[in-house]
Amino acid sequence: VYVIAMDGPAGSGKSTVARAVAARLGFDYLDTGAMYRAVAFAAIRRGLDPEDRDAVAAMIDDLELDVSLAGVTVDGVDATVEIRSPEITRAVSPVAANPVVRTELTRRMREWATRREGCVVEGRDIGSVVFPDAQLKLYVTASVEVRARRRHQELSDMDYDEVAAAIAERDERDRSRSNAPLVEVDGSVQLDTSDRSVDELVDAVIDLWSEAGEPS
Ligand code: C5P
Repeated sequence: VYVIAMDGPAGSGKSTVARAVAARLGFDYLDTGAMYRAVAFAAIRRGLDPEDRDAVAAMIDDLELDVSLAGVTVDGVDATVEIRSPEITRAVSPVAANPVVRTELTRRMREWATRREGCVVEGRDIGSVVFPDAQLKLYVTASVEVRARRRHQELSDMDYDEVAAAIAERDERDRSRSNAPLVEVDGSVQLDTSDRSVDELVDAVIDLWSEAGEPS
């Protein structure tokens, strides 16, 4: 299977570029952040404390998750919109730091990929942990200001300073956790999205992909 791994912090523009690249190449696309968000949603829905590792670990095995371009369902319930709410965004960091959750979701990501020919997978640990053999690894970044502005535009009910603080806190948690932190791995190519258009970025990734040589 051909894998393009795209990692980077919140608001870096990963999703936008990843989806467009997948569409251009005819590859499947997987948003692994949505999987972690879906687990956080399930925990909240069951009245669990997202920080309660054992309780969250206990529900993960038989949790039915369906994450696709069409949306996200959790145990058959549509959660496409809810997983983007500030409540879930707050709950996702402790859930993503839970080793049992990470092991199970990583297993599901790999299983998902075995049924594809080519895929674009985005997240935080895709090139480092989930698909260390990915043919192309991208580390997507943008300045803090640009990232906060993007998120602020999506979340019109929060003020800019609140959004900027929440992003900084989540990035810090993603970078400093002991289990599969966000890191820039050797061999990854940096893609700064601060002041390039989506079309330019997609072209740049497609060029990198052809250089990566459609490996055998
Ligand atoms: O990408 P998104 O912002 O939707 O991701 C939500 C959260 O899920 C991240 O802040 C991170 O804690 C977690 N995550 C992760 N590993 C991934 C993808 C997301 O820990 N591969």
